Amino acid sequence: MGCRQNYKPVPGAIALLLFWVFPGNGTYAQDTDPATQSTDTYEEHCGACHGYDGIPILPGAPSFAAGERLEKADAELLKSIAEGKGEIMPPWSEVLSEEQRIEVLRYVRKLAAIQAGSAE
Ligand code: HEC
Repeated sequence: MGCRQNYKPVPGAIALLLFWVFPGNGTYAQDTDPATQSTDTYEEHCGACHGYDGIPILPGAPSFAAGERLEKADAELLKSIAEGKGEIMPPWSEVLSEEQRIEVLRYVRKLAAIQAGSAE
């Protein structure tokens, strides 16, 4: 990432194309799957407080497994995700793109549905 001046776009694009055509062990294909990406995003950035299965690890963090806060509209939750909430919930607008924040909220709602036994 850092070495911008050494970046050669054409071989890079060819490598990417080859990877796309021959995904090898499947990791490239997996990385482009939005569902897998939002799982990764949640586990990397949210799970430490909200719990990997939505049961909070940090006291005071809402339990997504119990559907806490999820009665709020997407717009309100996306605002909290972007700007942070209270003293502890960090803002994510500098870390995650808007698309990633939408995907991760979708994943949070899915977690709640799984815990409630009514996935999808
Ligand atoms: C450092 C711990 C921590 C991390 C990391 C964290 N949260 Fe939170 N989150 C909290 C706490 C604490 C609250 C409760 C804030 C309050 O209402 O005062 C909260 C609240 C929320 C809410 C409810 C907001 C509302 O409007 O009521 C959502 C949605 C949320 N977090 C999503 C996420 C997502 C998505 C991530 C990862 C991108 C994440 N959180 C990462 C601690 C965290």
